[in-house]
Amino acid sequence: MALVDVEAPVGVSFLLNGRPVHLDTSPAERLSHALCEHGGTKDVKVGCDAGDCDACTVLIDGVAVCSCTTALGQVEDATVETQADFVANDPQARQLAYAFQRHQAAQCGICTPGMMVSAVALLRENPAPEEVEVRDALGGVLCRCTGYRKIIDAVMDAGHTGADMRPDVAPGGVGTAKARIDG
Ligand code: FES
Ligand code: FES
Repeated sequence: MALVDVEAPVGVSFLLNGRPVHLDTSPAERLSHALCEHGGTKDVKVGCDAGDCDACTVLIDGVAVCSCTTALGQVEDATVETQADFVANDPQARQLAYAFQRHQAAQCGICTPGMMVSAVALLRENPAPEEVEVRDALGGVLCRCTGYRKIIDAVMDAGHTGADMRPDVAPGGVGTAKARIDG
């Protein structure tokens, strides 16, 4: 008969958006589910739960990874970052969020966290990517609304121009699209 170590620690410990967490749940649980249900991260979206849409992308040790096909146990002692945190704390990611707003690159918003997480991973490695590199980096994230052009433009703008993307300092004028205040 196999012996069960009743003293063995349960759950999984890791760094979530800069703070140490211990989720007292099965290591086999999907990371996406564990983050949403036990980690308090409401910005991780789930589209297909099958590794097809990449809406659930998070950064694990800086690498963009699909969290619905990652088991919670795989992030033991790792660093996990989600979109809401780095928009709050990373100035470059905030510029990217403003660029999304300016280009109206978020419509229904389901793909937006996955797009932004993938874009942040790219911009951290390559602050001024070429369009083909943006396309490659975002290639796995599916969007049913925008036709991708606005999203690619937003990432290119955030990376290339170095301009301040805040809506209140964006150039205006007749014919200029207004940034949506609910963006
Ligand atoms: S929800 Fe994870 S890939 Fe679609
Ligand atoms: S904005 Fe709706 S799926 Fe991309």
